Amino acid sequence: LDRYAVVGDPISHSKSPLIHQLFAEQTGQTMQYEAIRIDAEDANFVDEIRAIQQAGYKGLNITVPYKLDAFELTDQLTPRAEVAHAVNTFEFLENDQILGDNTDGAGLVMDIELNGQCPFIDKKVLIIGAGGAVQGILQPLLAKQPGLVHIANRTAKRAQVLGQRFDTQVPIHGSGWDEIPLEPFDIIINGTSASLEGKLPPVSAEVIGPNSLVYDMMYGAEPTVFLNWAQQHQPQCQRMDGLGMLVGQAAESFYLWRGVMPKTKSVIEQVRHLIQ
Ligand code: ATR
Repeated sequence: LDRYAVVGDPISHSKSPLIHQLFAEQTGQTMQYEAIRIDAEDANFVDEIRAIQQAGYKGLNITVPYKLDAFELTDQLTPRAEVAHAVNTFEFLENDQILGDNTDGAGLVMDIELNGQCPFIDKKVLIIGAGGAVQGILQPLLAKQPGLVHIANRTAKRAQVLGQRFDTQVPIHGSGWDEIPLEPFDIIINGTSASLEGKLPPVSAEVIGPNSLVYDMMYGAEPTVFLNWAQQHQPQCQRMDGLGMLVGQAAESFYLWRGVMPKTKSVIEQVRHLIQ
């Protein structure tokens, strides 16, 4: 039986075992997927990973707080993991090598394009935040050839530096809050960790139009503060939370390991049901 796992700390509430079990059922794959805690205080990440590898596992997902350690440990990197500078997926190869991938961005892009029915091509995109989470999504997003990308961040410099890292035809602007053009964007993505504390980034609601898609990379049992804010100011706009991104990144990892791309919509609905 091919074995996989997600590693992190904390890990007990991880939805990944359920998601991968649903994918396996849907695609008729025989595999096992479990959650393994690697103690962030006491354990040595590299030693623990080597032990899991020696035990014959085929691959891993890596979550908080280990995505950077995972990046450092890999022998080979996919281009998107290299750009993201973080790894959320290992494939254990022959000769004890580790391939590192990052499927977070592809998961987000797939969720917006397939489940949100909103292709990025030629769209005006506003990204709020410029931290690790946003760094991970830019390359797959730019590959879809949006018309324009504006990255706005509390620390303007960080948005500007991030925007300059990409060699692309797509115009990318980086700024602080005050320089965001006050006109509707087609797609608005919140990638700040402010939502976690229930805080709103101080962005004008003029960036949302009735036809905008507003996406929060965060998710929870209730709509996030950011999505509630969007609904208050523009009730007609389409709103999505990050549960679809979570299922999407899992689907991209599953595809890397098994060569079959699962459908995500019904799985999102099942996981949604469980967290509510
Ligand atoms: P992550 O991996 O979650 O992206 P990170 O790299 O620390 O974590 O990035 C956090 C992001 O949320 C950054 O864009 C940060 O803005 P700064 O670059 O100015 O620090 C943003 N952020 C965090 N707390 C915020 C708050 N209270 N208001 C607005 N933005 C916030």
